[in-house]
Amino acid sequence: MTLSVGVLVSGGGSNLQALIDRIESGILDARISTVISNVPGVKGLERAAKHGIPSQVLPHHDYPNRRAYDQALVRSLEQADVEAVILAGFMRVVGPDLLAAFPRRVLNIHPALLPAFPGLHAQKQAAAHGVRLAGCTVHFVDEQVDHGPIIIQAAVPAQSGDDVDSLGARILALEHRIYPQAVQWLAQGRLKIQGRQVVLLPARVLRADPSGLPPCLIHPMLEYGF
Ligand code: GRF
Repeated sequence: MTLSVGVLVSGGGSNLQALIDRIESGILDARISTVISNVPGVKGLERAAKHGIPSQVLPHHDYPNRRAYDQALVRSLEQADVEAVILAGFMRVVGPDLLAAFPRRVLNIHPALLPAFPGLHAQKQAAAHGVRLAGCTVHFVDEQVDHGPIIIQAAVPAQSGDDVDSLGARILALEHRIYPQAVQWLAQGRLKIQGRQVVLLPARVLRADPSGLPPCLIHPMLEYGF
C-alpha cells in the first residue's frame, strides 16, 4: 500500500531529495502528495517542481500566531490527502493541532544522536563538545522539540580536526539513508509505539543481516582483550 505523505521543508531539501530518489527507484512505497515550505524560493521547492510534485508556500508570518499557522498547515495537508507528515528541515515547531490531525504520523529527522544536542545547530554543538560519535535520529514528533519516540539512529565517528562542516556532511549522508528507511517502515505499518519505545514489527519477508554483527558502533575501536 502506498503511503501518501506531505513533506515540510524550509531550505535545501536534500532529505526531500533522498525520499524522492527512493520513491522513484521503487524502494520506498510512498507518494509525496505535497511539499510545503514556510520560506519562498528555497531549493526544496525547486526539487519538488523538477520531479512534478505539487508544492505550496505557506509563509508563517502571514498568520497571527502559531496556532493559526498550524491550522493552515493542517488544511493544506488534508486537501492534499496526506496520511503522514514528514518534517525535512522544517524550521518551525509544529503544535498540537497538527499532531492531533495526524496522530502518530508526524516524523522528524534531527542531526544528532538524541537526546544529545536537541534544538538548533546540533552538528555545531556536537563538534564543539568533542563527541566521539555523532549522528542523526528519526523520531515521531510529540509536543516537545526533538523529543518523541525514536525510530532509527545512525552514528558516525567524529575525527580529530573535524569541524561543523566536515562532521555535518557525514551526518547528512547518513540522514539520507535512514529517513527513507523510517518512512518505509511507517508505510508498511511496522512501527508500534510503546511508551518511549518504538517496536519495529517484523517484515513479512525477512532478509538476513549480511554482516552477522549486532548493530553497534564503537569509536575509537576497543583494544585487545576488552
Ligand atoms: C538536516 O540536517 C535535518 O536533520 C535538519 O535540517 C537539515 C535539513 O537539511 N532537521 P535538508 O534541507 O534536508 O538538506
